[in-house]
Amino acid sequence: MLASKLPHVGTTIFSTMSALAQQYNAINLAQGFPNFEIDAVLQNCLIEAAGSNAHQYAPMPGTLELREQIVALVAKQYNRTLDPNEVLVTAGATQAIFTAIQALVHQGQEVLILDPSYDCYEAPVVLTGAQPIRIPLGLDFRPNWEQIRAAITSNTRLLITNNPHNPSGTIWAPKDFEQLESIMQDFPGLLLLSDEVYEFIAFEQTHQSIHQRTQIRNRAIIVSSFGKTFHITGWKMGYLVCAPELMKEIHKVHQFLVFSVNSVAQRALSLYLAQVDIHSLAHFYQQKRDLFRAALTKSRFELLPAQGSYFQVASYAAISDEPDTDFCIRLTKEFGVAAIPLSVFNANGEDRKLLRFCYAKTSETLQTATERLCKI
Ligand SMILES: Cc1ncc(COP(=O)(O)O)c(C=O)c1O
Repeated sequence: MLASKLPHVGTTIFSTMSALAQQYNAINLAQGFPNFEIDAVLQNCLIEAAGSNAHQYAPMPGTLELREQIVALVAKQYNRTLDPNEVLVTAGATQAIFTAIQALVHQGQEVLILDPSYDCYEAPVVLTGAQPIRIPLGLDFRPNWEQIRAAITSNTRLLITNNPHNPSGTIWAPKDFEQLESIMQDFPGLLLLSDEVYEFIAFEQTHQSIHQRTQIRNRAIIVSSFGKTFHITGWKMGYLVCAPELMKEIHKVHQFLVFSVNSVAQRALSLYLAQVDIHSLAHFYQQKRDLFRAALTKSRFELLPAQGSYFQVASYAAISDEPDTDFCIRLTKEFGVAAIPLSVFNANGEDRKLLRFCYAKTSETLQTATERLCKI
């Protein structure tokens, strides 16, 4: 038998639920991808890029024009002045995360992951021969800083955080940042991987970024995703930002993992970033969130707060006491709506009878889906 390097990894729940949704012709609110058109301006930028000479290998860290646009974006959004050399263009946030972990975490070291957590953190930690330490978030899905502090040893290399949070849609409070800063001050060897792919999708309160935390940002790798920001998940385009000493190591891995990232997409995004108003995004998604939530007030689902990202977590405890995976499968087969059970985001499988719905869908899709959910 072939010895697996990832013996505990199977097909992801996203593939499983999407396949089930297709098989039963259900509305797929499971996987986090938009089902509406991209901005026509971006489409034109892509056409223009396709007609340009941007068809050969891009420079290893990304084209200077795109990195300069990212520098301008970070300056405008967070008032942080970056050098383009502190930016790396990646094939989505997934590659950014993988590359950073491979480059910075050594065999035998420990990496803290806060559960429920998105599923692309643990595998690169395991592949690098390090030890993932999964720590539950609080019941409100904000970090439990005392528990995090208690889990840190001299062997802990990296803390991975995700804000705004997938799956819960929670956004950190100011005191979360203060607690994080205090921990990082007390453990000078600790690095931070801050997954901020939903940074532009925050509603009542604006997103606070690690870019704004001057005390710790030089020890952080900040990750973002154009896939999330511009509804182009299929392009697989993202970036990371970090200090030169970290970037030096990250470049070493990046150049042998992908060398460089899709040149046409880089040109298109450079053209687009020069003209887009990124702030309309939050309003756009807030309307979807509000529509989805309003339509479900008549249902038996209990909706948890949804402050950011494009996910809505709902409790089905008033409907059934089935395990959440069973309930999700039944929801897909019998009621024609696919969702993701929250237990799959927990290493310990904890099941609080919660589901995650993705509302990055057209109004028609949300209307039909909520009508079905109200019948349960
Ligand atoms: C929290 C989080 N991080 C990273 C990613 C991966 O982003 P990308 O598609 O850019 O690789 C996702 C995608 O769903 C996500 O939700």
